[in-house]
Amino acid sequence: MSELKWKKGVAVAGVGLSKFGAFKEKNSRDLFVEAYQDMINSMQRYNPEKVEAFYLGNFSSDQFEKQAHLAPILASWIGLSPITALRIEDACASSGVALRQAALAIASGQYDVVLVGGVEKMTSLEIAAVTEALATAADTQFEVSAGFTFPGFYAAMATAYMHEFQASREAFYHVSIKNRNNGALNEYAQFGQTIFDIMESKKRRAVQKGLPVPEWKDEIEFLSDPKGNPMVAWPMTLFDCSPVSDGAAVALLVSEEIASSLTDTPIYMIGSGQASDGALPERENLYSIPAAVEASRQAYQMANLTPDDIDVAEVHDCFTIAEIIATEDLGFFERGEGWKAAIEGKTSRDGSRPVNTSGGLKSKGHPVGATGVGQIVEIWKQLNGLAEERQVQGDPKIGLTHNVGGSGQTCVVNIFERRG
Ligand code: COA
Repeated sequence: MSELKWKKGVAVAGVGLSKFGAFKEKNSRDLFVEAYQDMINSMQRYNPEKVEAFYLGNFSSDQFEKQAHLAPILASWIGLSPITALRIEDACASSGVALRQAALAIASGQYDVVLVGGVEKMTSLEIAAVTEALATAADTQFEVSAGFTFPGFYAAMATAYMHEFQASREAFYHVSIKNRNNGALNEYAQFGQTIFDIMESKKRRAVQKGLPVPEWKDEIEFLSDPKGNPMVAWPMTLFDCSPVSDGAAVALLVSEEIASSLTDTPIYMIGSGQASDGALPERENLYSIPAAVEASRQAYQMANLTPDDIDVAEVHDCFTIAEIIATEDLGFFERGEGWKAAIEGKTSRDGSRPVNTSGGLKSKGHPVGATGVGQIVEIWKQLNGLAEERQVQGDPKIGLTHNVGGSGQTCVVNIFERRG
């Protein structure tokens, strides 16, 4: 496997997000402009005339909005024509891949300034149509034909994981509670309520309606009760799933030597890896994602770091089981130990290994094409000490992002560093 040799260093100079959520009145252009403006606000000396190319991650605006060929449309909308503008589609990893490709273009010496975006407007379709659209990212011949949709894939992985490691469903609930707690502190997140808030509001509603008041003593009891938390695909319940979301994310990638001319708060991309895989039936087991193991191996090798060096990580928790598997694939915990670490709180903001401080896909939201760049936004904030109430203590310097496409057919892992 050839290792990356970067001719030039790459920095993230600025980042921006739109609010994530369900917005009837907004289309991809509106969401993208919101994120772009947010990125401009994150920088001290942004100059649009310096942007040489625009790489857009987008899974399926053709299915969701009947609008393909989105990159030049968005580039023109923000006044960047006639620069090179292109769209990259790799399912839920679309903008993670776009970011890596932009970094490679800078590292090759071709460009110095590339705008990278991700956008998805999903809520224009009914839920059944969204599920069907998402399923086009799966393998039609071997996965969809067997009746799988995405909740089903991750339910199968969760079942395999529980069987192999005698893991309890409680571990999934801990991921859900943690990520909702984090998302409640993130003004851009789709869900502002913690699981505790939801539980208490359901009790209050029962009182108001004169119905029997549920006797949930804590969030775990609430999540274990199908009346509070209905089953989607066993063992994945509603609160194990990421939502259907609208949103956009933007990052400005620049060559290392010009970073400080544009911003006072750059972070440097010091490791990157990407790998691919076949459909679920082709895998040796269902309790790990080999593409993630390989992508992280490449990224650690390039950065000359080990998993223990990572201070903060954003991982692809499209379902709670995905976060637990990710923490093992990335080497944060031994295989089969991730579920215990989740229960012990090791991945919480004040734990030894903070994961998904943004709220993750589960709580911040998962507008699929925007997710990869959205993860970089949180790492940029955490490394620059700008994550406000979510800020991880201890002056984090090294951050990692892990973005998965499909049931693990694509995985991109990037590592970032703050210097000084
Ligand atoms: N987590 C927590 N709450 C959720 C939720 C989620 N993922 N999705 C919806 N809700 C809440 C809504 O806010 C709403 O709450 P309210 O009654 O208090 O207002 C309630 O559940 C019903 O919302 P609705 O939009 O009708 O839900 P739905 O049944 O249409 O969708 C899922 C629920 C789980 C099917 C949907 O979120 C889903 O498909 N998620 C997975 C998306 C996916 O596969 N992405 C790709 C991953 S690789």
